[in-house]
Parts: sequence; C-alpha cells; structure tokens
Amino acid sequence: MTDSTSLLITGANVIDATGERLADVRIADGTITDVATGLTAADGEHHIDAAGLTLTPGFVDLHTHLREPGKEEAETIETGSRAAAKGGYTAVVAMPNTDPTQDSVSVVDFVRRQGQLAGLCDVYPSGSITVGRQGTQLTPFGELSEAGVKLFTDDGNGVQDALLMRRAFEYAKGLGVTMAQHCEVEQLTGGAVMHEGDCCSHLGLPGWPSLAEELMVHRDIELVRLTGAPAHFLHLSTMKSVELVRAAKADGLPVTAEATPHHISLTDELLRSYSAIYKVNPPLRTMDDVTAVREGLRDGTIDAVATDHAPHVPESKEQPLDQAPPGMLGLETALGVCIAHLDMPLVDIVAALSWKPAAIAGIDDVHGRPVAVGEPANLTLFDADVSWEVVPAELASKSRNTPFVGVPLRGRTTHTILDGTLTVENGTPTR
Ligand code: DOR
Ligand code: ZN
Repeated sequence: MTDSTSLLITGANVIDATGERLADVRIADGTITDVATGLTAADGEHHIDAAGLTLTPGFVDLHTHLREPGKEEAETIETGSRAAAKGGYTAVVAMPNTDPTQDSVSVVDFVRRQGQLAGLCDVYPSGSITVGRQGTQLTPFGELSEAGVKLFTDDGNGVQDALLMRRAFEYAKGLGVTMAQHCEVEQLTGGAVMHEGDCCSHLGLPGWPSLAEELMVHRDIELVRLTGAPAHFLHLSTMKSVELVRAAKADGLPVTAEATPHHISLTDELLRSYSAIYKVNPPLRTMDDVTAVREGLRDGTIDAVATDHAPHVPESKEQPLDQAPPGMLGLETALGVCIAHLDMPLVDIVAALSWKPAAIAGIDDVHGRPVAVGEPANLTLFDADVSWEVVPAELASKSRNTPFVGVPLRGRTTHTILDGTLTVENGTPTR
C-alpha cells in the first residue's frame, strides 16, 4: 500500500549496522514500510532512482556549535541545522558554550524547540558541567537530565578542578548520563595559537603542547576507574591520547572518544600561512599524530567522527593569530573528508558517522537505526565516489571559516531524510 506522502528509493547500496546489500526502500508517514528488491513506484509516489548511491542511517554529530543563543551573527540553530542536513546529518548534539550557557532547563528547552521549529535536523542540546562554564559549581544534573540532556560538557574549556570533576562523574553514574571532556590543561596552553613543535618554534609562536591534552585524558581515565562512570573524550588530537584511550578500553573501562575531520586530514604545517582559518582547539598537530588518530578510528579506539563545527564571522577570523578565535566549520565537509582521508571500509566510516555516535549520545532508539521495516526514516543518501571541492559561497552555514578550500574531497550527500521528510534533495536543502 502506498499513498501520496510515500517515498520510494530504488537501487541503492544500503549500509547499516547489519551489513551491506542492494535494496529498494519505501517510506511512509515517517517510517520505513518496505525493504525489498524489485519495488516499483505507485502512481503519485515520489521516486528517487538511487542506482550508484549509498543509503545509510542519517549521520549523528556529537559536537556541533550552533551559536544560538548569543552569537547569531555566526550561526543560528536554523542555519546550522541546514548545514547539518546538507552534510547528511539527521541529528546533532548542540554544544553548551552559548550565551547564556546551556546550564539551565530553560536554555536547553529553548535550543531544542528552535531545532524543532527549523525542522531540518533533530537538535539535542548538551548541558554544561559547570554553571556558566566557569569551572567552579556543578549545574543541576538531575533537572537537566529530566529535561532530556544525556551528554554534559564544558566544551570550549576542560574542567580544570579534579575534585569537581570527580563529583561530576559520581553524579553522572547515578543519573545514567555521560560526561564529555574537552581535554586541555589550561596552565599549559595560556596564549597558545598552534601546536607546540618544530613548526611552531620555527615560526616563533606560542605553542599548545600535546601534553596539555594528554594529562587531562589520563586524569579522567583514572577518575572513570575510580567512579565507574562513563566518559567521552572530545576531539582527540595526539598520538599519546589515542594510546591512553586504547589502554583504557583494554582495561574494560567505559570510555568512548571522537576525532574531528580536520585532525584526520590537516597538519600544523598549514599555520606557516599565519592564517587564522587554521587556528583551532585542540590545534592541528603533526603528521604522526594524524596517522595515529586515523589508526585509532580504524581499530575502533576512537568510536566516532565528530565535526566540532565552530562557525565564526569573517571579521573575527581575519584578525591576527593571537586574537582570532579558534574553530572551523565541519558539517558540510565531514563525509567528503572521511572518505578522502580514511583508509577504512565504507561501512566502518558510516559506523563512525552514524550508529556509533548515536549510541554515545543516547539517541540510538531513533537515530543510527538499521534500514529495516518499522524503523524511523532518518536516512542519508550519498555518492561515495564523487570528487568535489568546497565553494565557501555555497555553504548553508552562516559562516565561511572552512579550512578545506582547495582540499580534494570525496563523497557527498545528495538526499537527507528526517522523520520521512526530505530535508535535502539533489544536494539542495528543501527548506
Ligand atoms: O576550536 C574550537 N572552537 N574548539 C573548541 O573547543 C570550541 C570551539 C568554539 O566554540 O569556537
Ligand atoms: Zn572543544
């Protein structure tokens, strides 16, 4: 049975957590109603000929800065959701470093509601670990958890106080929520603009040592060992961080980790341009680190690719390196960077973009689901082979600070389906 609201996708290479096969997929009223071969479109049914394309569960970004409330000149929940949809995402976790901070139920509810109004992607607000992200007083985890928050982070900063972090893990354990850490010991990174290493010494710029990340990864692994609470490590960037998480997982500790598209594709050498486009926290590292992070993704030490999509207005990024804010866009280029730079089976790349982050975010009842009858229709259709280059003026994001101009990308979303509705069709957002 079909009706005028139903959608038929034929001939796609379907990839999900159960494997890979050629199939036709019918969607009606937000749900997958048929998965078979040889399906034909009924009269009036919307039909997408997906021969040569790959159909997967929608991507889930664990790390999106949507900037609203507070910095709407750089991004809004609507423009960021549109960028997400264009990149193949059906869900994003919104980082809490907004103004006001996402440290209360009212702000978290506002962010979720704006996401629903935009209707381009499911927006799951994170909550901050400390009030105002000031690092001194824990937020009301219980209330925020009741309001649906599953991931807590002070992202933009790490929680510096070890005792406060211990208490955060202890509360998290009781509530069944996850602490996500931006690992940076700030005493070691004051004034830093790039990775501390040969390139940085040569340029005479203040450096951000790998150790500043690794010390906090180590501290939190030991706090996980002590408390039994889960921890998620945001944007890991160094070889030693990957080794620490690998060892923690071997010990059976409940830790997960993510890496960004820029840390698997770009190095600190780009800072020789003195362009703040390449300034990011944690900073771009060396080729050895890039190789180690890729290997971490390949062997599953790092569970997910997360964008750290961090929009900034052009004026701020045109400032000198020491004054420009850190951060780069990521949502619209993530898939293209992953396929171009990760020597991994496509199913493992999609796992890192979809069902693994969905599980970490605690939304795997709705996102990252198998492509099967009865499942919610949150899906992405992409061309895994197309080579392309990003054109900043064509980005859906309100900002333009992408470091991937001139970088060959491979693989691009053609259609994104949220709750059975096309949010992107033939590469163009529908709303
Ligand atoms: O580069 C970054 N930009 N790293 C962060 O942790 C925060 C982010 C931002 O909000 O701009
Ligand atoms: Zn961060």
